[in-house]
Amino acid sequence: MSLLLSGESIELRETQRSELSALLDVYNSNPGYNRLRHGSDAVTLTEVAAEYDSTLDIPTGHWLTVAAGDRIIGVMHIIVSNPADRKSWISVLLLHADFQRKGYGREAVRLAEAYFAQAGGLHVHHGVMALNEPALLFWGKLGYEQYRQVHAPVGRLMQPVLLVAKWLQPFS
Ligand SMILES: CC(C)(COP(=O)(O)OP(=O)(O)OC[C@H]1O[C@@H](n2cnc3c(N)ncnc32)[C@H](O)[C@@H]1OP(=O)(O)O)[C@@H](O)C(=O)NCCC(=O)NCCS
Repeated sequence: MSLLLSGESIELRETQRSELSALLDVYNSNPGYNRLRHGSDAVTLTEVAAEYDSTLDIPTGHWLTVAAGDRIIGVMHIIVSNPADRKSWISVLLLHADFQRKGYGREAVRLAEAYFAQAGGLHVHHGVMALNEPALLFWGKLGYEQYRQVHAPVGRLMQPVLLVAKWLQPFS
């Protein structure tokens, strides 16, 4: 199903394969994040395409392009009901470095939360790399609380990941 979620400043829309090179720019504008996730400053188009392809078969999963006007500014992956645990997940959220700290991340999360709530979700989950301090501050600011720490594969690396979650307002 093709998904389009529109907010005040951004829209989240199903990513087209032709957009992957623009998404590569998003990844590679964040060398610090790439280092944490992969151990190197940059990722390749092949790696981004492999990550995208690996998500396509997840039922209720959506790989979304974050757009502000005609600019592609980020990428987000969501799963409305993960087959493994029946939970709603925001599995990836990454904004281009030029578009951070402008409220777009908060708006993207709010749009996803509203979509989950509308689908009957009660809570939403996310895994943050324990060493990604700015991301921990971001999720904390949005009301997400840590409930577990796991050692999990992230990108090319195994590392400590903090699982965070938030209760959703029931949809009315
Ligand atoms: C983390 C990320 C998604 C946040 O999105 P954003 O649009 O930059 O964040 P927002 O502007 O919506 O910030 C909302 C609040 O989160 C907090 N916050 C966001 N980024 C922060 C940072 N780098 N340091 C400290 N607090 C931060 C602030 O409290 C902020 O509110 P304020 O700007 O009014 O103080 C984005 O910066 C990003 O993609 N970073 C690089 C990749 C990454 O780490 N992704 C997260 C994977 S878990």
